[in-house]
Amino acid sequence: MSKKSDQKHEVETTGHVWDGIEEYNNPLPRWWLWVLYACIAWGIWYVIAYPAWPMINQATAGYKGWSTRANIAVELAEAEAANAEINAKLASTELTMIAKDPELQSYAASAGNAVFKTWCAQCHGSGAAGTKGYPNLLDNDWLWGGDVDAIHTTIRHGVRSDDDDDTRYSEMPKFGEILEQEEITQVVNFVMSLSGTPDDASTVTPGSVVFADNCASCHADDGTGDREQGAPNLTDAIWLYGGDYDTLTQTVTNSRFGVMPPWSTRLSEAEMRAVAAYVHQLGGGE
Ligand code: HEC
Ligand code: HEC
Repeated sequence: MSKKSDQKHEVETTGHVWDGIEEYNNPLPRWWLWVLYACIAWGIWYVIAYPAWPMINQATAGYKGWSTRANIAVELAEAEAANAEINAKLASTELTMIAKDPELQSYAASAGNAVFKTWCAQCHGSGAAGTKGYPNLLDNDWLWGGDVDAIHTTIRHGVRSDDDDDTRYSEMPKFGEILEQEEITQVVNFVMSLSGTPDDASTVTPGSVVFADNCASCHADDGTGDREQGAPNLTDAIWLYGGDYDTLTQTVTNSRFGVMPPWSTRLSEAEMRAVAAYVHQLGGGE
């Protein structure tokens, strides 16, 4: 250490000299130091007060018990409390009366929209237009019925589900085990002729006989289907699985078994009614 004087006062130097240049050893400004100490103290307090140190499963909790999850739970509880009255009304109003109460209907449609986006869109599509095997809910072609009560029942109990004793149930036989290949070709051509052009017109007439013997009990004599059994209308050119020759042959040979879970285990009565009302007002409701 050595002292070096400039024009005004003496300044301590570090003693490093390089090429005649020396390094001053000025103390840190007091205000700066205090800010540094304050930051350190604040940092220690923060680590104790708030979740900070990452552990294996979660961070240390902190003595203030602050948590984003808990905050959201509080907000959800508040929202639920705010809607409690209208939810109770929704759950106790007769389904067909919901549409007649404008306030209830608009609440059901928006709450139902939220339920749909969360629970239904992954199968039926975010716009409810469906996809192969998952019915379009926008049109007026219904497997199990399109009035609001039927829609509610389908939602509540699901379709062909093992988890609900009152589920909608029916089973189309695998005709690959029952009919000859030729008969399947014939009946597929007959089904194609119901809504358009068959692949091979010469087989339509024998196909109609196969249909009357094997299919009419579920799909009706004229092929328009049966909602009691969820048997689709085969005359409307709206296909759940597809109307081309190959897909129809597959459907008839191996049959199909569309499954929807029951929602009564996951949704409240008000939520099921809301989403039923929502689906009903999408355009195809009866
Ligand atoms: C895991 C997939 C899946 C989810 C999730 C799902 N569905 Fe479905 N849903 C289906 C299938 C498959 C069918 C057709 C069953 C059949 O073949 O009869 C169906 C049928 C329906 C039908 C009957 C349509 C008709 O034509 O009669 C309604 C209504 C319906 N779903 C509403 C809903 C609502 C509302 C939700 C959300 C709460 C929902 N679905 C969630 C798979 C699903
Ligand atoms: C026991 C009742 C039953 C019988 C008998 C039956 N079906 Fe079906 N069929 C159904 C049901 C139920 C479905 C819907 C299956 C599903 O959604 O998973 C269906 C679906 C279909 C489909 C699919 C339609 C689409 O939109 O993709 C075709 C095609 C069809 N059946 C043709 C036939 C033909 C042809 C026969 C006679 C050889 C026949 N079915 C006999 C009940 C039956």
